[in-house]
Amino acid sequence: MKVYEKLLQDNKKWALDKTDQDPGFFNRLVDIQRPKILWIGCADSRVPPNEITQTNPGDIFIHRNVANLVVHTDMNMLSVLQYAVEVLEVQHVIVCGHYGCGGVKAAMTNSSFGLINKWLRNIKDVYRYHQREIDALASQNEQVDRLIELNIEEQVYNLAKTSIIQKAWKRRKAPHLHGWVYRLEDGIIHPLKEISPGEALDHAIYEYDNLGDDA
Ligand code: CO
Repeated sequence: MKVYEKLLQDNKKWALDKTDQDPGFFNRLVDIQRPKILWIGCADSRVPPNEITQTNPGDIFIHRNVANLVVHTDMNMLSVLQYAVEVLEVQHVIVCGHYGCGGVKAAMTNSSFGLINKWLRNIKDVYRYHQREIDALASQNEQVDRLIELNIEEQVYNLAKTSIIQKAWKRRKAPHLHGWVYRLEDGIIHPLKEISPGEALDHAIYEYDNLGDDA
């Protein structure tokens, strides 16, 4: 059997199992989704959001990209964010990265990887902000792990710097922002950073004071 054929076969089995356990499962999800969480994660195949959090279809709205970045010119991410925050009205936005992230490892080298250089540039910037702290660590593994953590925190700040989040904070005192890191070795997620609605940002220049309806 071809690898993609197995996916289709297992999908049928999964759908039957779900219906066996809970006959109304699919019907409840047909007309509406009400996820309370937006998850922004790494595209890495070893970090599947629903599986590692034991959540079901309908529970989490998900956006994934290389190294879980929140880039202010990324229309894909921004569209997901706006829809999740303004239409679905999620209560929490979680940026979940992971130790051993290939994107962060690549960004810490001087190698060129083609088009993805432009994406990884964002991580190189995070390294530059924290170079002294990172370079002081003894081993390369520790340095990469620390940049992985700092990169996650930076992306949480990047969320807080969007007018989408700031407008929602003003209007409905939500969502909470979280930075989490997943450990490939044991499957455990460790919370790193949390920003509550309305909390002051790392620099006041990022706080908008005229957020109207069209902001
Ligand atoms: Co990764």
